[in-house]
Amino acid sequence: MRTPIRTRLLVAFLLVAVTSAAGLSYYFLQELESFALRKLEERLHTQNRLVAELVSSAYLAEGDSAISRGESDEIARALQAAGPEIFSRIRLLDGRGVAIVDSAGPGGADVDYSHLPEVEKALAGGYGAATRATDDGRVGIYVAEPILADGIIVGATYSSASTFSILTLLDTYRLRLVVVVVLFVVVTLVITEVLARWLSRPLRELSDTASAFAGGDHAVRAKPMGSRETRQVAEALNAMADEVERMMIELREEERAKTRFVSDVSHELRTPLTAVRGAAETLLDGDVPEDEARRFLETIVRESERLSRLANDLLTLQRIEGATGELPLRRVSLKVIAERAVEGLQPLLDIRETTALVDGEAPAVLGDPDRLQQVVANLVDNASRLSPPGSIVHVELAAENGQAIVRVTDEGPGIPEDALPHLFDRFFRAQPSRDRLSGGAGLGLAIVSAIVKAHAGTIEASNRPEGGSVFTLRLPALHDEP
Ligand SMILES: Nc1ncnc2c1ncn2[C@@H]1O[C@H](COP(=O)(O)OP(=O)(O)OP(=O)(O)O)[C@@H](O)[C@H]1O
Ligand SMILES: [Mg+2]
Repeated sequence: MRTPIRTRLLVAFLLVAVTSAAGLSYYFLQELESFALRKLEERLHTQNRLVAELVSSAYLAEGDSAISRGESDEIARALQAAGPEIFSRIRLLDGRGVAIVDSAGPGGADVDYSHLPEVEKALAGGYGAATRATDDGRVGIYVAEPILADGIIVGATYSSASTFSILTLLDTYRLRLVVVVVLFVVVTLVITEVLARWLSRPLRELSDTASAFAGGDHAVRAKPMGSRETRQVAEALNAMADEVERMMIELREEERAKTRFVSDVSHELRTPLTAVRGAAETLLDGDVPEDEARRFLETIVRESERLSRLANDLLTLQRIEGATGELPLRRVSLKVIAERAVEGLQPLLDIRETTALVDGEAPAVLGDPDRLQQVVANLVDNASRLSPPGSIVHVELAAENGQAIVRVTDEGPGIPEDALPHLFDRFFRAQPSRDRLSGGAGLGLAIVSAIVKAHAGTIEASNRPEGGSVFTLRLPALHDEP
């Protein structure tokens, strides 16, 4: 269906306009015609009756059974005198149906009308009427009425009139109506044009907007205008455009993050690989004193350990982020988790000459114990690594607003303010040179954040006024069944 809205409207309007105008005109003319003909017949009828009354009361003596010659002459004279006042040609017929008097003139007498059905009816005492074509091709109305004398039919009055004037009048009307219908069509055309423009403008605007959007102008939006329906379409189109734009920004952002990730990973791989290669090449050159050779071998071991840890961390991150909602969840006591994490780190804490203390109580949560232990271990590892020897790392458990809280505080240097928003990004280090030396790849907190998210929890970092930093982990508490 490619017909434009204008053509459809035009066809519909024209159909309605022409059929209704033509139908109404036809009905009106038909009614007018039958009304005029009926009126004409009524007048003939009245005239007949009047003359019949007159004849029977004025001219017929009592006991008369026919109109005599003398009477008929007198009536003829009277009719001729009335001449112009008489509405139409009238004839007086005797009992056999032969004309005695004719208002048209003396020549009309003695004509026999008895064979006409309307005359037959009148002579039988009834009312006779007929519509017939006259000799000159026009249509005439004929009406006959009996004349009674003492209840006996002595003759009939017979009137006729041409319908010519009525029909010519109707023809003039018909012509005028045709003009009116033509005018109707012209007005309809104009209205349709205006209406079609008005109706299709919002649609054209919508289509222009959609085309512009498809052409790459993603900032373009449709103006809601016109009818309620077109407004709704415009709003829907705009909502769709917003969504598409949002998705494109997201995709672009994702693409950028992916590129950054790949370049970060290769950067992280390059440092240990260069160290391993350098050490191995020196050893291959030979002629290296034994204690130095040992140092090179230690470098190779340390750097390959770092590489394998990096690979493990990346794998962990990818697993957690890729497996949303698929963690093996069960009821977990955070106290047990925290104690286990500290226990696992004990050798490292001893080397760093730091202490980690777990205290307080937190409600049970639903979680994956190994992953949650990894969270606490990463936090305590960072805290102890960055704190001076002899300091204490506190792991406090608490309950707040229906949430289980784990707070890890340290007596270290704290976190630079500008680093706070990026702390949980992959490969982020607040002090790259120092942190790199201490062995971290900057993935620990990214892993923490991913695990916490997978548990529907939150984690935030801040600095304590008295020095050191604090990491606050919040997890939805498990409400015990009553
Ligand atoms: N308790 C803390 N106090 C001060 N700075 C911290 C603390 N914890 C983390 N940071 C800063 O945040 C950075 C990111 O920590 P994250 O654990 O992600 O990486 P990392 O410890 O350097 O390396 P990885 O954990 O991968 O071995 C650290 O490099 C450090 O600069
Ligand atoms: Mg870390």
